Amino acid sequence: MSAVREFLFGLSGKSLPQSGNYAWKSPSNIALVKYWGKSEPQIPKNASLSFTLSQSHTATRICFEKKTVSEESRLEIFLDGILKEAFRPKVAGFIERINEYVPYLNFYHINIHTHNTFPHSSGIASSASGLSAIALCIMSLEKEMNPGMSESFFKQKASFLARLGSGSACRSIEGEIVVWGKHESVKKSSDLFGVKITEDIHPVFHHFQDTILLVDEGEKEVSSSLGHNLMIGHPYAEERFKQANENLKKLLPVLSSGNLNEFNRIVESEALSLHAMMLTSQPSFILMKPNTLEIIEKIRAFRKRSQLDLCFTLDAGANVHVLYPKKNTEPVKAFIISELAPLCQNNKYIMDESGPGAAQIFEGSS
Ligand code: PMV
Repeated sequence: MSAVREFLFGLSGKSLPQSGNYAWKSPSNIALVKYWGKSEPQIPKNASLSFTLSQSHTATRICFEKKTVSEESRLEIFLDGILKEAFRPKVAGFIERINEYVPYLNFYHINIHTHNTFPHSSGIASSASGLSAIALCIMSLEKEMNPGMSESFFKQKASFLARLGSGSACRSIEGEIVVWGKHESVKKSSDLFGVKITEDIHPVFHHFQDTILLVDEGEKEVSSSLGHNLMIGHPYAEERFKQANENLKKLLPVLSSGNLNEFNRIVESEALSLHAMMLTSQPSFILMKPNTLEIIEKIRAFRKRSQLDLCFTLDAGANVHVLYPKKNTEPVKAFIISELAPLCQNNKYIMDESGPGAAQIFEGSS
């Protein structure tokens, strides 16, 4: 595929700063309409929609140091102050992949310090928050060379770059609700970057609660890139892509009307369809654990008996996200503590909620 011209960067006539030091914190996100299946280069087969989270995020500082012509570029990544050789191939691959859009990086040594607010082994993917934070730091360096850049271009290109690292990472730049993938019902939607939904969001969806139940803290058995690839030639692929786009179309009026009944129905159906794709791919794989199913049953039983609005969604893993409006926090939290936490590994869960997206960290702020 040919390069996307609007995001190319011409080096001629630009003076590169001697060094730069930028920090961003970028959140994870949880898809309500799922992206599962792509074509090169990270073009989604259907549009997806997510809540941007706030508590689960990655804080990343990057120091760029201009190198001499004869020097090899250095890339070092530290997690909580410890050098992580194991992270190098993924980050180096990302930098390589975005090279034509950020050619200035070839002139720098890159030193990355990163910290996740969620445990590394929690089963929460750190790729969305981690790669979007890196993309934002790179954009801060680019802004130094192009100070007139608009804020919207800054965010759009950050989302574009993050997408080339990990698809869903492009939905982590802004909040509270982001769509990625061209969709007839979302103005300016694009396969290349996420767009924030601004119009007509019912107040019930502000600070929407997401309690992440850590059912299995182990590393995922099947990576999401492998899972995406298994959608190639999948017998249900075309219907699934159609279903996701239809669900997104149905969800938009629900997001403005605040019809939580319909919200719960669509969101749960999306989660189960995602896992149905895994169950029916060749080879098949199962990421849910027995406790995932038990939690789902308990959520449905509690909803019926309490008449409270709450629902579940799943990522590509065994953990369960319990979604509910802020006003229901007290009774739902009591239910989670008494009935769901015992089904989590070491009783662990994370209380999170939808939030505004990434933010720059300045010296002295956190
Ligand atoms: O961004 P990736 O390649 O890790 O894929 C993410 C896939 C899901 O989390 C399962 C769904 C989604 O839309 O986030």
